Amino acid sequence: MSIHLQETRRRRTFAIVSHPDAGKTTLTEKLLLFGGAIQMAGSVKGRKAARHATSDWMALEKERGISVTSSVMQFPYEGKIVNLLDTPGHADFSEDTYRVLTAVDSALMVIDCAKGVEERTIKLMEVCRLRDTPIMTFVNKLDREGRSPIELLDEVESVLGIACAPVTWPIGMGKRLKGVYHLVLDEVHVFEPGKNFTRQDSTIFKGLDAPGLLEKIGDEAMRELRDELELVQGAAPSFDMDEYLAGRQTPVFFGSAVNNFGVQLLLDFFVEHAPSPRPRGTLSREVQPEEEKLSGFVFKIQANMDPAHRDRVAFMRVCSGTYTAGMKMIQTRTGKDIRIANALTFMASDREIVETAYPGDVIGLHNHGTITIGDTFTEGESINFTGIPNFAPELFRRARLRDPLKMKALQKGLAQLSEEGATQFFRPLMSNDLILGAVGVLQFDVVAYRLKDEYNVDASFEPVTVTTARWVHCDDEKKMAEFREKNAMNLAIDGAGELVYIAPTRVNLQLAQERWPQVRFANTREHA
Ligand code: G4P
Repeated sequence: MSIHLQETRRRRTFAIVSHPDAGKTTLTEKLLLFGGAIQMAGSVKGRKAARHATSDWMALEKERGISVTSSVMQFPYEGKIVNLLDTPGHADFSEDTYRVLTAVDSALMVIDCAKGVEERTIKLMEVCRLRDTPIMTFVNKLDREGRSPIELLDEVESVLGIACAPVTWPIGMGKRLKGVYHLVLDEVHVFEPGKNFTRQDSTIFKGLDAPGLLEKIGDEAMRELRDELELVQGAAPSFDMDEYLAGRQTPVFFGSAVNNFGVQLLLDFFVEHAPSPRPRGTLSREVQPEEEKLSGFVFKIQANMDPAHRDRVAFMRVCSGTYTAGMKMIQTRTGKDIRIANALTFMASDREIVETAYPGDVIGLHNHGTITIGDTFTEGESINFTGIPNFAPELFRRARLRDPLKMKALQKGLAQLSEEGATQFFRPLMSNDLILGAVGVLQFDVVAYRLKDEYNVDASFEPVTVTTARWVHCDDEKKMAEFREKNAMNLAIDGAGELVYIAPTRVNLQLAQERWPQVRFANTREHA
């Protein structure tokens, strides 16, 4: 087997989807711990704090209890290479999350055992289901009193429409938590707070009749477990690889992330069964990860990751071939050649220069405003990956400067922050206004905060009479010039230099569309 094929097959690229507070950060930390990517528990939180120290903008994140920035974490485990793509949890940043989900091969859903299926989880699962993303489930916080496990599985099945195949089963809950039973391995793992970090450090009984088990967990727990298992094994399907890969069945694990209990059982199962990189659709054909030539797409852009460097990084998911430092790639949208010598990889918290990357990996490309979300890179073939959603803004505000001399810095900041995709920036043809469009209202606060923090610009956002925006195109140049002249009042240039119709009302837009049938009004900027 070629190195490329071997490396591709051992990649596991996934994201965690959950409602805020279910335990995503805690679980991430434990997973990294097993991968040896971090040395001790608490580092992810520590990492948060360290970033907070270097960039005050994180203070906003902390204040609001949300995680705005995503990152990519790679770690080796049991001969596999795991790529965990972090997703921001807050609803206003959902476009970012959706795009991250286009770059993974599977997902892990975390549910709080007391709260069950919550609203954000439902939304995120909808996105996963659109692409039939295989999903594993971790029911967390077993050390607290929660709902009955059978009830929880019923809820997942009825609310999310996916069959549950329990792989582990809890023995008690809250104060009565004794352990979990692994249905596939036929093992009981005893819950002992402070222990359980690895198999070696755990008390494991092979089979329900193993000597000593009854004494360890007691009569009552044993009876309860046998009753529940009888019920579950009769009613729930057992794990079926094909059903899982088709996104119709989710293997379910129970545990407590903060106690690191049940986490290794999940990770072991995950690296064994989660899919390696899967084929990806383009406008013209499906790209197989086994193909030798490099291809990939940009699913995320982040400005000023490191305020000391003022950089912007485009995150590219490798879909086929091998990336090697210094190789030439073509940006298919523009046809331009670029040579990439200094792509980044993200090993836990530190950025390092990456020498090679394989399908499933994510590399960070330094970006000076020429790369946009959805861009495809190849070694020459003119293809475009599809399915990277681009959301039309629904809210518009005018930027208002406290110090008029800062106009240039404001423009630059708005343009650069808009490249990240969460906001869009418009300059009307007939005025000096700077208008920002966003999908969620929190984004205006974030942009105002970051303008101050990263660009030293004091700006606020005020209402403006724009209801919706449409990117306008016309094949007939003369008609376009006429349209432009007649509608200059309602036209603007976006951050990428494209012409946009900014409609004061929906009726106005409709009239314009009727009057100018030759002009196409697109509700997203077209990815060429
Ligand atoms: P999130 O990223 O999904 O938002 O959740 P996060 O991991 O931050 O966890 C949310 C809260 O739930 C945290 O408490 C965390 O310690 C707690 N938690 C996570 N896993 C478990 C678990 O297995 N059992 C119990 N009992 N709690 C768990 P916090 O009070 O918000 O933060 P902290 O002060 O404890 O760090």
